Amino acid sequence: MSSQRVLHDHFFREAKRNGYRSRAAYKLTEIDDKRSILRKKDFVLDLGAAPGSWLQVASKRVGPRGKIIGVDLKEIDNLQLDNVTTIQEDVTELSLETFENEMFDVVLSDMAPSTTGNRTIDHHGSVRLCHTALDIAATLLKPKGNLVMKVLEGGAYKELLERCETCFSVAKGFKPKASRAISTEMFVVCTGRKEDMTKPMDIAPPRPGSGW
Ligand SMILES: C[S@@+](CC[C@H](N)C(=O)[O-])C[C@H]1O[C@@H](n2cnc3c(N)ncnc32)[C@H](O)[C@@H]1O
Repeated sequence: MSSQRVLHDHFFREAKRNGYRSRAAYKLTEIDDKRSILRKKDFVLDLGAAPGSWLQVASKRVGPRGKIIGVDLKEIDNLQLDNVTTIQEDVTELSLETFENEMFDVVLSDMAPSTTGNRTIDHHGSVRLCHTALDIAATLLKPKGNLVMKVLEGGAYKELLERCETCFSVAKGFKPKASRAISTEMFVVCTGRKEDMTKPMDIAPPRPGSGW
């Protein structure tokens, strides 16, 4: 068996053993262990939260005085966590009034588009979701707040990272061990929201045939 397969099986078994809803729990765990995204008492928005393993990790890390809101297209079965609320909604159609002017310390996005098998199309779908997460963060993230989002790597990654660098003190790519090496999936970890993250950067129009 390949070492990648062994690692994948390891995280799968660990998730089962520890009661996490998916092995994705270990991606956020590693990101937070290495980059210190979440703190006690934080108010967290988790975009693309189903089935809920990031909610489980964040719930523990922010503690009973923190709060997390998870949003997903799919319903999230009752997690029975006192500090977690869930909303079934398309993030791209989210009314920001839902949050009643509350501001978040952290925005997380593990959103992934429905994959087509075409890497270019899937990459652009993923980048679009990241820009949506950035637009939401521009409105709802507190100054100095943090953003973590998943992206499928490809040609538009550089431009996405550049937008993140204009909005945050630090923005860097991160590939957790629980993420399969053969997958193009990685995470952009952004810390220290700048005050002036108000306006979305103009995104260059897609090139013909890019699959946008
Ligand atoms: C990889 S899963 C998230 C796993 C989750 N972080 C966990 O730990 O359980 C990606 C999720 O993104 C959601 N998603 C994709 N596009 C979305 C959108 N436009 N609005 C809301 N959720 C979306 C999908 O429904 C899917 O549940």
